[in-house]
Amino acid sequence: MSSYLQQKTGGATCTWRYLGRFVTVAIYASVALFLWYTLMPTRHKEHAAPLSLNNPDPRAVAPVSTKNVVIYAATQFFGHPITTERFLATCPDVQNYCRITQDESESDNADAVLFHNADYRGPNEKFKRMKFQRKPGVPYVLWSLESPSNDNFRPESHMINWTMTYRTDADIWAPYGTMVKRKAPVEIDLNAIWDSKKKSATWLASNCFTPNRRFDLIKKMIDNGFDIEIWGNCGKQAPQCTGVDNQESPCVLELIKPYKFYISMENSNCKDYVTEKFWKALNDRMVIPIVLARKYYKDLGVPDSAYIAVDDFATFDEFMTHIKKVNKDKDTYLSYHAWRKDWQIIIGSGFSGWCTLCDRLQDKEKILKNPKSYKDVAWWHSFEMCNNQIAAKYL
Ligand SMILES: *[C@@H]1O[C@H](CO)[C@@H](O)[C@H](O)[C@H]1NC(C)=O
Repeated sequence: MSSYLQQKTGGATCTWRYLGRFVTVAIYASVALFLWYTLMPTRHKEHAAPLSLNNPDPRAVAPVSTKNVVIYAATQFFGHPITTERFLATCPDVQNYCRITQDESESDNADAVLFHNADYRGPNEKFKRMKFQRKPGVPYVLWSLESPSNDNFRPESHMINWTMTYRTDADIWAPYGTMVKRKAPVEIDLNAIWDSKKKSATWLASNCFTPNRRFDLIKKMIDNGFDIEIWGNCGKQAPQCTGVDNQESPCVLELIKPYKFYISMENSNCKDYVTEKFWKALNDRMVIPIVLARKYYKDLGVPDSAYIAVDDFATFDEFMTHIKKVNKDKDTYLSYHAWRKDWQIIIGSGFSGWCTLCDRLQDKEKILKNPKSYKDVAWWHSFEMCNNQIAAKYL
């Protein structure tokens, strides 16, 4: 309001004020540009690798490599074997030069040693022996798909060289999904999207009671007249969709598509922790995700107009008024789909990190030149990275 009034006063002071403002903006912009140029190239390269595997852009295909590498998986994956076939399934090209082994006799010659955190049982005899024989060019990698609310990192100080998680600052970035800008905008039939929407909102979950109390908020939304159909463990079973609890099941797509909204609230709210339930809602399920806090999605570069965040609203009532309006009003509803013209979703599997890891292991010289290890990897992946109090404010 005040800047509007200033414009109306006009005159020389105003010109100077604008000039001053322009200079300030220019300085900020140069600093931002400088940071972008110095920081982005490496960041970008690291991130491009796993995603390019599913990316139809032919320019993004990973370079051809010749050095053969072996990763020794020192643990299992939730009790299941870690195999080349399953864990490098999304990058068949990489399989030409990279192999995963669980055979301990090969551990001495491996190019990396990998631990899946949830299966890590502390320094037993095997690990103690390995520690003794540790080679500087062979990174120890800790992998996790879970948020710190559900998974405490266990390894001791300086044992771990690289982390492999969904966090953007992990050494190997393994996201559940991401978004890239299209090279050119595409046509989107917004009317067809509106016409396909027959129902209000839905939620599919197996984990009903979580520290961030998302279920309490969902129940309050229902009590206040916003229709949410709940499927899975926390609601009803879908007879037409056996195994509805499994997000991967193909019938889940058909189940969810006719709804306008999907409750994409994570089981915990932690830095960069955005799982497939959000990315799939945006991708082929074509529903507007409702999330708890905007920050986590903004940090990942998701356009604001792609989803609704509860914490945008001062009160629960304001939030309800808004979603009820979006539910009824065609133009407002479709404004949440307009991003589709310019952006493309890439679904990760959480396994994409393996492909990136293989790639990174190609450059032994670089690895040797840049040694690092985590003094306190447990802190890096701790509750301090979470805020599970967001829903409470609205209850
Ligand atoms: C891994 O950490 C150990 C222990 O701190 C260190 O000696 C080694 O050089 C590190 N290796 C890499 C590849 O960073």
